[in-house]
Amino acid sequence: MPNLSQQGSLRRSLLLAGSMTPLLIHTPASALAQSRQPGVKTELNASSLRIAFGSCAQQRKPQPIWDTIAAARPDLFLFLGDNLYVDARDEVTFRQRYAEFQSVQSLQEFREKTPHLAIWDDHDFGDDDVGGDYELKALSQQMFCDEWAEPVDSPRRTRSGVYEAYRIDSVGRSVQILMLDLRFNRTPLRADPAQKKGYGAMVMQAKLSGKPMTGWYLPNLDPQATLLGEEQWAWLAERLAEPADLRIIGSSVQFAADGTGWEGWANFPLERERLTRLISGQRANGVVFISGDMHYGELSSWPVEGGYPLWDLTSSGLTEVWNIPTPNRQRQSVVVAEINFGLLEINWADAGGSLTMSIVNKTGKTKLSKLLNIDQLQFTKV
Ligand SMILES: [Fe+2]
Repeated sequence: MPNLSQQGSLRRSLLLAGSMTPLLIHTPASALAQSRQPGVKTELNASSLRIAFGSCAQQRKPQPIWDTIAAARPDLFLFLGDNLYVDARDEVTFRQRYAEFQSVQSLQEFREKTPHLAIWDDHDFGDDDVGGDYELKALSQQMFCDEWAEPVDSPRRTRSGVYEAYRIDSVGRSVQILMLDLRFNRTPLRADPAQKKGYGAMVMQAKLSGKPMTGWYLPNLDPQATLLGEEQWAWLAERLAEPADLRIIGSSVQFAADGTGWEGWANFPLERERLTRLISGQRANGVVFISGDMHYGELSSWPVEGGYPLWDLTSSGLTEVWNIPTPNRQRQSVVVAEINFGLLEINWADAGGSLTMSIVNKTGKTKLSKLLNIDQLQFTKV
């Protein structure tokens, strides 16, 4: 039976039709938005949990994908960023883009009937590829928290970033959801100016040749460079020290992909190493990543010495598609260059528990899938 006992937490109660027990999402400080977080209309076997996710939804484009996602009957949907394209340098434009977002009927109907949580990426934080020096970030934080119905006393409104932790307990097993903020504190990216200038030619050449196209970002090896900022790092270390059977880390940009030249943790190798060390140092079991941003879907994995591979399922986009091949040294799957969403199916009835990670296209067809036993996501006992 779903249950929660985290000290000081407020309960998010998501009523599941067909189930006598509510699904409870626990978070230290945030409560479910009253207006936009309804009871779930799906059937729930308490020993299974379906979490869908996606990214990159341009509010000026049709979004029929929401009907397909609803048909997959997710218990929860995670918005992983670029949930709208604000792309603004002034407040009037900023607010206008949010108004456009609010008028996307299929999306808002989906939000009315499906519990959901959100983080942002560059385009809904403010503008293409921006980070901590974005000049409207205080406004952006307020708009985000209002839109996603954070309570007035939520720490997401006042701390340096909209990161947050949630927990779903069911049949004696616990799923932790760690939603990161990779924008609010991020130091500037390093770019190759020559490549950036030649963007049009790069695209043309890639289209003609059919060969992979690498972006212009370079790894930043400055020890002061950061993606998370120290406050979020301290928070994350505390969360990873908490017990959980499965930990889903929501990262707006790819964690495991390498050599793309576009945005991702690969831009900050020392930060990725730091997180890998944190996970292995705390022997945190059950970690998987989900990510967005790229305008295609794929599965990658990052090796951990003496541990288990860190799988990273990327889903993007809900409206956006990039069909020029992009390199990724850590790729473990086909590339899904069409409109898609991600689906995590957790089943605690299987011995030890299982996780199926899938990418599904707009007609509901599964385009890639990976089945993991939860005991494959564990450090060996010492
Ligand atoms: Fe993005």
